[in-house]
Amino acid sequence: MWPIDCIAHKRDGLVLPKEEIERFIDDYVHGRVADYQAAAWCMAVYLKGMTEEEIADLTLAMAHSGDMVDLSPLAGIPVDKHSTGGIADTTTLIVAPLVAAAGVPVAKMSGRGLGFTGGTIDKLEAIPGFRTTLTEDEFLHQVQNIGMAIMSQSADIAPADKLLYALRDATATVESLPLIASSIMSKKIAAGAKAIVLDVKYGEGAFMKTKEDARHLAHTMVRIGHLVGRPTHAVISSMEAPLGTAIGNSLEVDEAIEALSGKGGRRLMEVVLAIGSQMLILGGKAKDDADARHQLQELIDSRKGLAVFKAFVKAQGGSYTWIGKRPLTKAGQAYTPVCTDAGWISAVDGRGLGEIAMSMGAGRACKEDSIDPMVGIRLYKELGDPVRPGEPLFTLYGKSDADLPALAQQAADLITVTPQEPEHIDPVVSEIIT
Ligand code: URA
Ligand code: CA
Repeated sequence: MWPIDCIAHKRDGLVLPKEEIERFIDDYVHGRVADYQAAAWCMAVYLKGMTEEEIADLTLAMAHSGDMVDLSPLAGIPVDKHSTGGIADTTTLIVAPLVAAAGVPVAKMSGRGLGFTGGTIDKLEAIPGFRTTLTEDEFLHQVQNIGMAIMSQSADIAPADKLLYALRDATATVESLPLIASSIMSKKIAAGAKAIVLDVKYGEGAFMKTKEDARHLAHTMVRIGHLVGRPTHAVISSMEAPLGTAIGNSLEVDEAIEALSGKGGRRLMEVVLAIGSQMLILGGKAKDDADARHQLQELIDSRKGLAVFKAFVKAQGGSYTWIGKRPLTKAGQAYTPVCTDAGWISAVDGRGLGEIAMSMGAGRACKEDSIDPMVGIRLYKELGDPVRPGEPLFTLYGKSDADLPALAQQAADLITVTPQEPEHIDPVVSEIIT
């Protein structure tokens, strides 16, 4: 008896045929499978797992549950990137113009953020006048003209994933490898990607807590990408400390512009170059990693990536004359405490800093919250840097009525200075899976 059979098959550990997976997803989206049945099915998947073929079938079934964006009018191979989410991660705003400048079309649909700071769309909306809503024609024309466009998701992308994710959240089935992998990959495929680069992060501030779990998820998604004909590479990166030095939306735009001007932080640029090179390779514009990195460095040194960023902001109606001249951030007040000790930065609690930035208004605790684009934290030191007494550690940017000295005390407690240099710091990028 349908759909009970399908639940029972997975409960008993059987491998589900493609037709059964497709029918289950289609029936669920059309209300012919009840929420409690889909919830039982998710729990069965959680407990019994799925083969890679089943995950690939589930991915395609979810991708086809709504609109499929057609990027075939674009010349070249559109490569998308996805990050499993981190703190001070403004990689997209740096990588997209660099890769576009190298000739790989970037036609990206992004979301708003829920959590410590905004998503890419929230960051772009910190730029006065910037339009994140484009028609499909405008979107494609812009990519053809200047190489890139980023718009907020307008199409009805993977509605099956939206429904299932809400159920999983309420039924302790979020942490299921087949369900996570199909959720992420189905959205990229529906958004039109022909190839995909994933940044799978691990650590305290990340969705996957351990490197082993991150590697496992990455390997699964890379295999699924190949099975569904969308070549996929993955970068494994550490979230044991914030990636960049800016936490907050306009601050992250400022950091992206600095990076495109050759002044990017060490940790951030490690990830930018790793993701960017894999995008050039998959987009057919570089023959290997060394060639790709050489091209990306040249596009930074020549400011050609920065020029594409400026053209992109202009094309989407944003104010752009300030770019390269002054920061975008202008909060009500700023406060910069100095370091009292000499030593080395041996730990930075990114999650804690993210929570402070969120309490100041940089992120959303729930979907309805609004964001203040100007507030946040700018760090002057990275994990492993030496510090001397009297050196500034960070600046807090807040609303005019915020108690910044008190918040600064909390933030300073999250940055550990030790008299000895830390013996071992994980490289940010530990592996690239192809
Ligand atoms: N991110 C997603 O998009 N889906 C998941 O299931 C988990 C993380
Ligand atoms: Ca996350």
